[in-house]
Amino acid sequence: MAKDFTYMVTAAPGLEDIVVSEILSKFPQAWIQAQMRGRVLLVTNRPWEELLKLRCIDNLYLHIAWLKIGRHKADLPELTSSIATLTFPEFPWITRAHSKSKVIVNASRSGQHTFSRFDAAAAALEGLTDGRGYTPGTKDAHDLHFRLDIIGQDALFSLKLTSADFRFRGHRHFSRAALRPPVAHALVWLSEPKDEDIFLDPFCGSGTIPIERAAYPAASITGGDISPTAVEAARQNAPEKVEIRLLDACNLQDIPSGSVTSIVTNLPWGKQIAKDEDIEALYRKFLAETSRVLAPSGQAILLTDRHTELAKACRMAQMQCRALYTISLHGMLPTVYSVSHGS
Ligand SMILES: C[S@@+](CC[C@H](N)C(=O)[O-])C[C@H]1O[C@@H](n2cnc3c(N)ncnc32)[C@H](O)[C@@H]1O
Repeated sequence: MAKDFTYMVTAAPGLEDIVVSEILSKFPQAWIQAQMRGRVLLVTNRPWEELLKLRCIDNLYLHIAWLKIGRHKADLPELTSSIATLTFPEFPWITRAHSKSKVIVNASRSGQHTFSRFDAAAAALEGLTDGRGYTPGTKDAHDLHFRLDIIGQDALFSLKLTSADFRFRGHRHFSRAALRPPVAHALVWLSEPKDEDIFLDPFCGSGTIPIERAAYPAASITGGDISPTAVEAARQNAPEKVEIRLLDACNLQDIPSGSVTSIVTNLPWGKQIAKDEDIEALYRKFLAETSRVLAPSGQAILLTDRHTELAKACRMAQMQCRALYTISLHGMLPTVYSVSHGS
């Protein structure tokens, strides 16, 4: 029987429940060992490459050890010696490695400590080089990329398995306000994709959300934007099964009433629109159109930090609005809402 390994996956803080739902749906035999801010630990015997089917995650790591760490700089030599002596899992990347293998360590740190994350990374690297005989590498030249997450008195030590190409999907042109593809995917996942969906993202920008929706079957997938530049970028990015249109989300006259089963969109918010009254009017008109085009049992998943304007627009459109998750994105805290006709 294939061996169990423990993996750590990372995601935008706030998306952990969605990540767990995606893991358990795509890998029903997996065991969730821990869930913490921006990270989930899971145990599975599936080959690690299969875990790349997880699209709500930013990165995949092999979890190596869960260590304890003191608060002070004087405690770091203990970390060095733990890393030098701990038993590494018999994972192919590790069993293949030898003394010429170049290694690097990145660290994150939260909590009260008298050392920095760079001190911690240096202590871990010393354990790998002086202790285990690996060669120090550089950001651009390394064979193994380790990660140390220090959270209070816990230190999670892991090996990175994915590159930036994984979360940026390799090939995309992003607009200024573009979501990271895994965040877009999490919104799509929350919409519970169905084969018969008539799907619409009416503020699609460079197309991240409809492109992520294309990972699952649908009757139709449409993205639209009022900006010809955004539409051009989205058309270049999107696969053939995604239709990209120039449209005004406040006037969806070409879309028949009650015809859309699923709307997922990243509304304009934050600093994307200059005047507050513009947002209020935009949301009011868009919600009126949502109420018209959305099928009776349809659902809209909306991302914004403009809570008051959204709540007001939903009341005026007589739509039910439920806050689902608040996520941390580039220092801002937008919320994911589910909007429906209600019962
Ligand atoms: C937050 S961005 C969407 C980013 C997109 N999710 C992405 O990943 O690229 C908002 C988009 O709404 C568009 N927009 C603003 N007002 C609009 C309107 N009335 N109708 C359609 N699109 C509009 C802007 O051009 C912008 O591309």
